[in-house]
Amino acid sequence: MEASPCSVISSLAICVMVLVAAAASSASAQVGVNQSSIALISELNITRDDFPSDFYIGVGTAATQTEGAAEEEGGGPSVWDHRAKMLPGSIPNSDKFPFAIDGYKRYKEDIKIIKDLGVNGYRFSISWSRILPQGSLRGGINQRGVDHYNSLINELKRNGIEPFVTIYHFDMPQALQVKYGGYLNSKFVQDFQDYSDLCFKLFGDRVKHWFTINEPSSLAVYGYEIGIAPPGRCSLPEGQCGLGAPPPGTCIVPAGPCFGGNSSTEPYIAAHNLILAHAAVVKLYREKYQEEQKGEVGIVLAATYFAPFSKSQEDKAAAKRLFDFTLGWFMEPLVFGDYPRSMRDLVKERLPTFSAEEKSLLSGSLGNFVGINYYSSAGAKHRPPPPTEKLRHSFDSWAEATAIPDVSGVSNSNWPQGLQKLMNYVKNKYQRPQVYISENGYTNTRNDSRSLHERLYDPHRASYIARHLYRLNKAMKNGANVKGYFYWALFDDVEWGLGFSLQYGLYYIDFGNNYKRYPKLSARWFRDFNNKNY
Ligand code: GAL
Repeated sequence: MEASPCSVISSLAICVMVLVAAAASSASAQVGVNQSSIALISELNITRDDFPSDFYIGVGTAATQTEGAAEEEGGGPSVWDHRAKMLPGSIPNSDKFPFAIDGYKRYKEDIKIIKDLGVNGYRFSISWSRILPQGSLRGGINQRGVDHYNSLINELKRNGIEPFVTIYHFDMPQALQVKYGGYLNSKFVQDFQDYSDLCFKLFGDRVKHWFTINEPSSLAVYGYEIGIAPPGRCSLPEGQCGLGAPPPGTCIVPAGPCFGGNSSTEPYIAAHNLILAHAAVVKLYREKYQEEQKGEVGIVLAATYFAPFSKSQEDKAAAKRLFDFTLGWFMEPLVFGDYPRSMRDLVKERLPTFSAEEKSLLSGSLGNFVGINYYSSAGAKHRPPPPTEKLRHSFDSWAEATAIPDVSGVSNSNWPQGLQKLMNYVKNKYQRPQVYISENGYTNTRNDSRSLHERLYDPHRASYIARHLYRLNKAMKNGANVKGYFYWALFDDVEWGLGFSLQYGLYYIDFGNNYKRYPKLSARWFRDFNNKNY
């Protein structure tokens, strides 16, 4: 099966899953693959004991994707709750969005499931507007929201599961969006800092691993360049391709609808403020909490491994630039204090600049680690910006991400070797930082005509995990400083703008039967792996 061209852009499923048709047609091909998947796993001969005992193997979720009940018990809406309400046509089954998978109410049951998987870490996010309904401290703290996360964290600790908390996972409080335009405005930095401060103060006695912001690149590009995520700002004409085109026929994601904005400049401004916000929170944690709480803080970045499409010098340079415009966009400022040279040269005056004071704050402000969300690899081809297109992030790198010619494997969106290579790249380029694989997951399209048995039969997912762990282990033996791996996702949950149409979960949810959770074959395999049962 071939890698989908969509999967090369980023980890965010909004992109990966748009090729629903491709994935659906791959379902029949998987029948053949399935038989061999389990055999393949045992051939790899990878076990839990190949990883150090203090290595975290966990599962991940995020508040919007699981909790539901956003506005119950005093919580306020996020930008995603607002979008589901105001633009119901933009999200399949948007009527189900407000309930997600009922995780807010079922957290105790869900922790039993996590425990049963034999994992030692759980990554989840705090809903900002659940504890600060107006987004800022001045708008008041919702004690019931705080109580909820206290109970969740306590229950995890009681069960010996280490909480890994994402402070901000795509769910900006709608109140701040309305008040000043969210992170397009530099006022965001102070509010994010206040909110993070509150999280450290409330939960930091028990939470020792903090992820500040999840995938700032997705926030910037999807929200401000192509408008498929809130706040839906972009300046692309109706019907125009958002990601992927030209050449003709390669549109991956159609843009918009656009609610004002400027696709050429705003993604860079948004990212700029997110970088400064992360750095401010790292400084705060270091100065105010770290000594006493003895925890760690880092960011989560989406990363694709880019291999030159051909041996030409042009494609080699294109691969470098694609790294710069994705991972480097955030890593370079946070490690070295400024944007990559190629971005400064190509984006020119559209790229905001850091003051000397900001540069010195930024340099060394990655935190204690970087979380990497890895789903796929891509080939890099030299491509000048098309003359008919407005300059914007997708074209600014003079490079095109495309399917890798020699991809082999069982998923349309993965390349395990790429994970190993990526770890090597990160180690060499960024001073061997500590890394968590904060997301890595396999998806299939939801297909309501399948029987329950078929829905639970996913050896390809088990094989996907095993092959990535195998490659990760090789990277570690080669010196990569990796401390954990979190499978995405624990459940089939809300896949943002794609609703429930894509399924990443180890567990299937039966909506018709009171959200009953069913373990898939992959969950059973993962449990055996973690419990060293084979
Ligand atoms: C990531 C995102 C997750 C999940 C995942 C699956 O970009 O952080 O929330 O949606 O993609 O595609």
